[in-house]
Amino acid sequence: TYVVTENCIACKYTDCVEVCPVDCFYEGENTLVIHPDECIDCGVCEPECPADAIRPDTEADSDAWVAFNRKYAELWPVMVQRKDPAPEAESHDGKSGKLAAFFP
Ligand code: SF4
Ligand code: F3S
Repeated sequence: TYVVTENCIACKYTDCVEVCPVDCFYEGENTLVIHPDECIDCGVCEPECPADAIRPDTEADSDAWVAFNRKYAELWPVMVQRKDPAPEAESHDGKSGKLAAFFP
């Protein structure tokens, strides 16, 4: 599976949702997540994210992100249409500590 990681938080560019062939992105107030059981591993969303927030689960720290994505995908509504990014997206892009700040 692919997962959405920390740099999506407070950026939410939403370019990713338009390309997913199985509509497995889910929207929270401050970030999106991918449902790991629905993702077919096609990889097309990864290069679409301007914040480089989408990663394959083969990366070292991915277990926690898979759990995070699964948890919220089961709580949040599906998102299939792009919308404006978060209001302060540019200033939040690349900042550290967003997970702790927005998901205390
Ligand atoms: Fe959707 Fe493909 Fe991205 Fe998985 S890898 S979330 S199926 S676009
Ligand atoms: Fe987030 Fe990137 Fe999609 S910032 S909403 S994962 S395009």
